[in-house]
Amino acid sequence: MTIEFFARLPLHGETQYIPGDNRNRGDWNRQPHASTGAVSSSEVGDDFAYVDYLSQVARAAEINGFSGALLVNAPFGDEPWIVSAALARETKRLRFVDAFHPGHFSPWQATQMAASFQRISGGRLVWNVIQGGSDGLLRANGEPLPHDERYVRAIEFLDLVKGFWANESFHYKGRYYEANGGGLRGPLARAPIPTICSAGTSDGAKELAAKHADYYLVLAESPDHVARNIADVKARAAKYGRADHIRFGVSVDAIARETDEAAYAEAKRFFDEGVRAGTVKAAAVRSTQMSDTNRARFERYNGREVADFDDLFVEPHLWGGFGYIGIPPGFAFVGSYENVAAKIRQFADLGLSWFFINGYPHLEEIYRLGEHVLPRFRAPKLVSAIGNAGEGDGEQAVPLVSGGGLAARGNG
Ligand SMILES: Cc1cc2nc3c(=O)[nH]c(=O)nc-3n(C[C@H](O)[C@H](O)[C@H](O)COP(=O)(O)O)c2cc1C
Repeated sequence: MTIEFFARLPLHGETQYIPGDNRNRGDWNRQPHASTGAVSSSEVGDDFAYVDYLSQVARAAEINGFSGALLVNAPFGDEPWIVSAALARETKRLRFVDAFHPGHFSPWQATQMAASFQRISGGRLVWNVIQGGSDGLLRANGEPLPHDERYVRAIEFLDLVKGFWANESFHYKGRYYEANGGGLRGPLARAPIPTICSAGTSDGAKELAAKHADYYLVLAESPDHVARNIADVKARAAKYGRADHIRFGVSVDAIARETDEAAYAEAKRFFDEGVRAGTVKAAAVRSTQMSDTNRARFERYNGREVADFDDLFVEPHLWGGFGYIGIPPGFAFVGSYENVAAKIRQFADLGLSWFFINGYPHLEEIYRLGEHVLPRFRAPKLVSAIGNAGEGDGEQAVPLVSGGGLAARGNG
């Protein structure tokens, strides 16, 4: 199985410290006017806007061999589709995995916009079909439907998008939408339909993935849970004859350093800063804004006694500390470059082939991962060239997803 790596673009600020800290980049800080990171005032005539920083991150991802970048959608961050349209012209190969809430668009408008994006970018749009957080949070922004019903609507939505894409004259009548002879025509019809990702562990989410997703995405957590979700979605996809079609991806952070000790020191720095800044309580409050299944995941790993950062290892090199202090996606692979690579292989063996992996700050960590971790998953010739340049851990060129030894760390 081929592994592909995707970076992330920080659409709600760059977090080297705890979210809200004035030393971070962007203007999501507690006192934007007192920020010490890269911040623009977003006024006409400014030489610099936050998208210029995002452009650096996107270019770094491309230069370092990432296949694409994940753009998450949060109500307080920039909108992914707009940002990626701007960045498509500043990059050459990078694919944009745009979080995309079907309830915010009409099926036809989304189809036409996606076709134009594909023409502008050379077919680099990937949709991550999301459903947002809690019902309350969604209602605040005008979403009338409850959780399960949103998935019924989303399945119909994708029926329509696929119908419009494949037919010049498409007819459909569902509970939420109908179509009476519309469809892409001419040059737009020749654009490739976006690759479709979806996520979520509720029944509705898994049914949507089973019928429509090319990639079902999970957040990293204990491998047992991940394996169970993958098996469940594969079984559901079989109903649509798609068990062999659907593939799987995972979102995870990384703290990868020369040695395990250096990586643990960085994990501890985040943990200590979070505890000092009181973000643990804030994360618990924020968990009430999550969907039911995400809150259950948060509680699964954060409900225990935590005295120090290393109480949050659920197994060697798999650290739930970011979730504990409120930084999504929650889990990180933490350790030496070799042990982070081994962790990637362990998760790949569960059936995962797309790895959305990054650290903080995204720009610097993309270079770090690009120089020390990604080459371990490339063709042997390239890896040995890098080995000769003196990386010095003596590791041979590694074929994709071979096993690797793990140093023990954590409390089980
Ligand atoms: C890799 C990944 C990326 C996600 N990105 C977003 C996002 O950008 N915005 C969002 O609101 N939800 C995002 N989600 C959340 C899911 O779309 C989904 O709403 C969530 O997993 C809860 O679904 P459920 O309650 O149906 O199980 C993401 C999930 C995963 C695994």
